[in-house]
Order: sequence, then structure tokens, then C-alpha cells
Amino acid sequence: MLKIEQHVSLQHHNTLALPSFAENFCRVSTESDLSEALSWSRQHRLPITLLGGGSNVVLARDLSGLVVQMAIPGIELVSEEQDQRVVRVGAGENWHQLVLNTIEQGWFGLENLSLIPGLTGAAPIQNIGAYGVELSQHFLSLEAIHLATGEQRVMNASECQFGYRDSIFKQSGRDQYAITAITFVLSSKMDLCLDYPALQKALDGIDESELTAKRVSDAVCGIRRSKLPSPEDIPNVGSFFKNPVVSKEQAETLRQQHPQLVGYHQVDGREKLAAGWLVEQAGWKGFNQQGVGVHQQQSLVLVNSGGTGVALLSLASDIQASVADKFGVSLEIEPRVYS
Ligand code: FAD
Ligand code: EPU
Repeated sequence: MLKIEQHVSLQHHNTLALPSFAENFCRVSTESDLSEALSWSRQHRLPITLLGGGSNVVLARDLSGLVVQMAIPGIELVSEEQDQRVVRVGAGENWHQLVLNTIEQGWFGLENLSLIPGLTGAAPIQNIGAYGVELSQHFLSLEAIHLATGEQRVMNASECQFGYRDSIFKQSGRDQYAITAITFVLSSKMDLCLDYPALQKALDGIDESELTAKRVSDAVCGIRRSKLPSPEDIPNVGSFFKNPVVSKEQAETLRQQHPQLVGYHQVDGREKLAAGWLVEQAGWKGFNQQGVGVHQQQSLVLVNSGGTGVALLSLASDIQASVADKFGVSLEIEPRVYS
């Protein structure tokens, strides 16, 4: 039987370690637990908030209603045809452990996404990406339960409307579905994506014949550990803002004023600017105030050293205002904010 607890602290359930309480809390390990939780919330007319590993949420208030932590396990090889490996994974599987598991099986595709915190079920929400690869490139479909009706849905990639740190689940489908499983298409044939400059540099000097998914994963982990603070040491949610995508003309104008501007050309002709550079240039690197601050090495990472969600959002808003003022560029918050 599903255990629903009252007034549960969420401080250990969010990687910013923000103080927040769930009015009611449960952990669901099966689809039947999930339907029981949905019936309970409907019966009590209470809203539902879904939580995975809490590595992309800003809890600036207590969560009323029922907080459901998704813990449905399972990694299953669905089919193998020629080089293609189709793998179905439960929403509650730890993302990095899944990546390591696929590497051990000899399946290529997810290695560049090593060491991203959180659970598999949350990965489609912002179409996680790193080091030249996005989830959408290896995604076949997902299974979800529509929260209001309890109806089961299977959605393919185009229905998920994936974009850069974006999907239908951040837009029209926000808070409407519980993702229960994801099906990936991987490859048993060596198929590495080594375009990202920092990754190329880390693998420089290694003979091509010695390259493996494990080697790429280790290199990605090495870069990440050198750049990003671990939430266990310094509570954070990774990048706090998306990298803003601006027109070619705006990027050119900015570059005339700021020749060091860091940006990446997009296939549509626009340019994605490094928000970390903009925040650093606006003078925020290492700034601290009211128990919250900007990381010393990576200005895109906001950190909590004993503050509140409200203080963190106030800092974020000051940063947005100063970047808009200095560069005329607006920064969009990346994690999901509950305020
Ligand atoms: P949570 O934070 O628990 O939830 C995030 C959102 O998804 C919430 O709105 C929640 O309601 C919803 N949600 C969660 N599970 C489900 C579900 N099963 N069904 C429906 N909705 C759900 N992200 C990247 O893309 N690339 C990176 O390189 C990266 N690096 C990071 C580094 C650090 C140090 C940290 C702390 C975070 C980083 N992130 C990165 C962000 C984060 O790890 C990802 O967004 C991750 O997918 C969040 O997973 P989670 O389980 O913690 O989600
Ligand atoms: N930079 C600065 N100052 C800073 C931080 C960065 O000048 O304080 C410059 C760097 O020198 C570099 C550029 O900005 O030239 C980009 O920095 P980095 O390589 O660290 O990557 P990022 O753009 O900050 C993005 C993702 C990360 C992802 C990495 C690798 C976003 C919002 N962030 O970071 O994702 O891991 O690339 O692909 O797209 C996350 O989403 O939480 C996340 C960590």
C-alpha cells in the first residue's frame, strides 16, 4: 500500500538544498503506486508536483498538495536488429548509472551525457544536453500518464517538441503528465560524437583505435568535475540560465563592442551566446549575498550556502537586469521555479 507522509522536508530532495516542505509526500516505485497517488490527490482535490532527483528545481516556497517522487525502476533491451539496440528505461533510474550501464553493455549514444545528475524520467523535460549531444538524438518514445484523467499516452520525438533545453513538457504540456518510462535507440556499432571543442582537447593525443565510449565518458566526467561544482559540496542546479540565442546582426553588433564575446553559430544562422561569459563580464563571478551567490569558477552556476529560494531568485533577477542593461540580452532561467 502507498505510504503518504505529511509535512516532509524537501531539503534533501533538491540539489540546491533549499528549505521547503511538502504538505504531503510519497515515493512511487510502480505504475500502480502512481495511479493510487493520482486517485488520492483527485479524491482530496489536491494538486500534484512531480519530483525526480531535484537537480533542476528551485523551491522558493513550500509545496502544497501531493509531491510524488518518481522511482519506477527497470532497464530492458526491447529489440536488437543489426546494430540498433532499443532500450526501455523506467523513470526512476538514476541517469548517470544508466549511461554507465549502456556503456558496459557496449551500446553507444549516451556517453557524452555522462554525470548529468537526476533521474531518467526528467531527462525529456528540458531535453538534457552536454558536450555536443542532446537526449532527443537517441530518443524513440516515452510513456506518460495524463495527470488529470489517468490516461496512458505514448509520445514520439516529434510529439515531445524537443528544442534546446526545451520540450512540450515546459510549454503546453507543463505539469500535465507523469513520465513513467523512456525508450532509447542506441547503437552497438562504434558511433562517437567528438565535435565539442573541450572534448576534442581532452582526447587529444589518444589514438583513434583506442577510443571507446568509456574513454569518452571518462573525458566528459573529467571536464565536468573540473568545471562544475558537485551539489554535495556546493548546492546548485547546474546552469541557472539558458545560453541566449540571438540574431546574427545582434551578435555582430555586440562583438564590435565586446570583441571577446563567446558565441556559437547555429544552423539557422543565429548565434548562441555563452551566458556564463555575459554574467562574468557583468561583474557577478564569486558574488555572495544573503547565503546565496555566483560560483567562483563558473558564473552560470548559482550556489546556495544557507540562503533561501527567495534570496536566490532575487539574485537571479539582479543578474538578469544587469546583463540586459550591459548587453541588451535577456537571460531565461533554466531550472523549474516554484515560487
Ligand atoms: P527534477 O529536478 O526532480 O525535476 C525537474 C522538472 O521535471 C520538474 O519540473 C519536475 O516536476 C519534472 N519531472 C521530474 N520527473 C518527472 C517525470 N517522471 N515526469 C514528469 N515530470 C517530471 N542538465 C543538462 O541538460 N545538461 C547538463 O549538462 C546538466 N548539468 C548539470 C550539472 C549539475 C551539477 C546539476 C546540479 C544539474 C545539471 N543539469 C544539467 C540539470 C539537471 O541535472 C537535469 O535537468 C536533470 O534532467 C533533472 O533531473 P531530476 O530528476 O533531478 O529532475
Ligand atoms: N565562461 C566564461 N565565464 C564563466 C563561465 C563560462 O567566460 O564564468 C565561458 C567559457 O570560458 C566558455 C563558455 O563560456 O568559453 C562556455 O562555458 P562552458 O563550456 O562551461 O559551457 P556552458 O555554456 O556554460 C553548457 C550547458 C551545460 C553543459 C555544457 C557542456 C547550458 C545552459 N549549459 O554550459 O549544461 O554541461 O554546456 O555542454 O546550455 C546545465 O544545463 O545545467 C548544464 C550544466
